[in-house]
Amino acid sequence: SSEQHIEDFSFSFEGPFGKFDENQLQRGLKVYTEVCSACHGLKYVAYRNLGDEGGPHLPADQVKAFAAQFETFDPAIDDFRTSTPADKFGASNLESAPDLSLMAKARAGFSGPAGLGLNQLFKGMGGAEYIASILTGYTGKEKEEAGTVFYENTAFPGGWIAMAPPLVGEDVDFDDGHSNDLHHMSEDTAAFLMWAAEPKMMARKEAGLKGVIILILLSALLYMTNKRIWKPVK
Ligand code: HEM
Repeated sequence: SSEQHIEDFSFSFEGPFGKFDENQLQRGLKVYTEVCSACHGLKYVAYRNLGDEGGPHLPADQVKAFAAQFETFDPAIDDFRTSTPADKFGASNLESAPDLSLMAKARAGFSGPAGLGLNQLFKGMGGAEYIASILTGYTGKEKEEAGTVFYENTAFPGGWIAMAPPLVGEDVDFDDGHSNDLHHMSEDTAAFLMWAAEPKMMARKEAGLKGVIILILLSALLYMTNKRIWKPVK
């Protein structure tokens, strides 16, 4: 059936007080590096952002060492050289695999009911849930059409995706000893891609919260001022 199913994963960054979980982002980075980057790119994300507070927050020497594993084409010398923190992750290696930099914001996991978008109001847009659900949503069925193999996936619109199941469980080992079953790896990878798509989410939520507090204070002051001004008339 092509009924789309998105699981409502509960992520640490949800809600007005939600925060990215540093360790989870580091685990997701590992899955991205060891598995997804074989085909997909992350061309809008710079290595140096891996050091950002509110993000994976790697120490500077680790950011440098991470970047140095890869090469970047440098037009100035018309050749490849060792990447530095100022360089960006590469583009997709496989033409048919979309760049993942903005994927978590480009897709909505939730919609409805009846076109009202109420699910998005209560559960969020669901970009990260969509990605995690794709990774866990394979049924094991495949078919070949016009020379391309499609895999049945309960989260992909239409139900058949041209990406073979990238994760099966226990694909990578996590340094922090966290579970690497399919469900947890998918969750961590989706969290990392959410951060990649919105690296300033923590700063945005903080600014928004301050704004709301100030507006509540202002409302109280205006209410009292209004009472005082009209007191002689009423
Ligand atoms: C599509 C994620 C690994 C090949 C996608 C999409 C996502 C995704 C979110 C887009 C679905 C959409 O358009 O809505 C990931 C993640 C991976 C991974 C998180 C690692 C865990 C791979 C690998 C390959 C690959 C290793 C190649 C062997 C593709 C292709 C598509 C795709 C060809 C296009 C599928 C289609 O439009 O039918 N991937 N991917 N992916 N991916 Fe991956």
